[in-house]
Amino acid sequence: MNTSFERCENTKVEWLTPPNLVLKLGEFDLDPCSPIDAPFLHANNNFTTIDDGLSKEWFGRVYLNPPYGRGMELWIEKLKNHGNGIALIFARTETKCFFEHIWNDADALLFVKGRIRFYHVTGVQAGTPGAPSVFIAYGRENALALKNSGIDGRYLDLKL
Ligand SMILES: C[S@@+](CC[C@H](N)C(=O)[O-])C[C@H]1O[C@@H](n2cnc3c(N)ncnc32)[C@H](O)[C@@H]1O
Repeated sequence: MNTSFERCENTKVEWLTPPNLVLKLGEFDLDPCSPIDAPFLHANNNFTTIDDGLSKEWFGRVYLNPPYGRGMELWIEKLKNHGNGIALIFARTETKCFFEHIWNDADALLFVKGRIRFYHVTGVQAGTPGAPSVFIAYGRENALALKNSGIDGRYLDLKL
């Protein structure tokens, strides 16, 4: 399927998490990849492309919806090593990224029911993406936050 969402991924258009979803996960100390002209923020501290959030030291509880496309796994690997946070990516469970950084390392997953309608930097909500999404928790407190979030989907604890 080649939806407009996927086409835009390749051109690195920004796709922002609906704020109501992040609010359900609690307070975050850092979003390491936030838009420069963000219509809303998900964390108390935010790195943008100007900072290059991937090269920075991460701190506290991290919310990560990484830039999609090639290189995305570097952000997931960094969150895995940081050990405290929640990521949101497409649920492409067969990929190298999943096998190298998620299946054996994350604490829990929440497969989202239906498709998340992300936002453009303009603050306008986009159409339906071409793939389902999954939240990934690193750290037991983040697993608990996913479990108790009330976000509609299927929770899977990977460390039980
Ligand atoms: C999928 S969007 C998610 C934005 C936001 N985290 C959210 O969930 O609403 C990815 C973001 O990463 C930013 N980005 C790309 N490369 C970056 C870098 N090296 N350092 C910091 N931010 C970056 C883009 O500008 C874009 O806003």
